[in-house]
Amino acid sequence: MTDAADNTIEYVSNSPEETIQFGRRIGAGLAGGEIIGLTGPLGSGKTHLIKGIAAGAGAAECARVSSPTFVIVNEYLAPGARLDVYHIDAYRIETTAEFEMLGFDEICYRRSVVLIEWADKVADALAHTGAIAIELSHLGASQRSIVLRNPPRYLAEALK
Ligand SMILES: Nc1ncnc2c1ncn2[C@@H]1O[C@H](COP(=O)(O)OP(=O)(O)OP(=O)(O)O)[C@@H](O)[C@H]1O
Ligand SMILES: [Mg+2]
Repeated sequence: MTDAADNTIEYVSNSPEETIQFGRRIGAGLAGGEIIGLTGPLGSGKTHLIKGIAAGAGAAECARVSSPTFVIVNEYLAPGARLDVYHIDAYRIETTAEFEMLGFDEICYRRSVVLIEWADKVADALAHTGAIAIELSHLGASQRSIVLRNPPRYLAEALK
């Protein structure tokens, strides 16, 4: 893992399991109130990373976090969970208005974590939210680069 001077963290994953495990560490380092926008091409590991983040944040069952192809907003609200986790797949969203109609404002609160897959599709809506950006890319058949841009200090500390 590289902690660059310009406040980005890069992690290189060598397997789907490592991506989930890194996600767990991110999730465990969240305090609540975060919005995380994930970008990266098809098959770059966004859903695997989200599985880990949701589990690390205390979502009920990490097995229940899967790519919400038809349901755009998936909620992971477990009684007694540390944080409420929401996963939005923005792949099919075409306009900012459409995104806001999902009730985005209502799911962003102090004890929630909102994970947005295909965040580039809703970049305008996220521009002023202080969202943490995570960019995934292919390095090889089973190798992925995972870059966090401007993580809050407490998260960067948790990932050290
Ligand atoms: N290091 C790795 N980390 C994550 N996934 C990997 C890795 N190496 C290989 N893979 C494979 O790449 C695919 C990643 O799938 P995943 O659904 O997480 O990607 P995605 O970015 O969410 O794709 P989509 O854009 O279709 O939603 C899986 O088939 C997984 O087995
Ligand atoms: Mg996916």
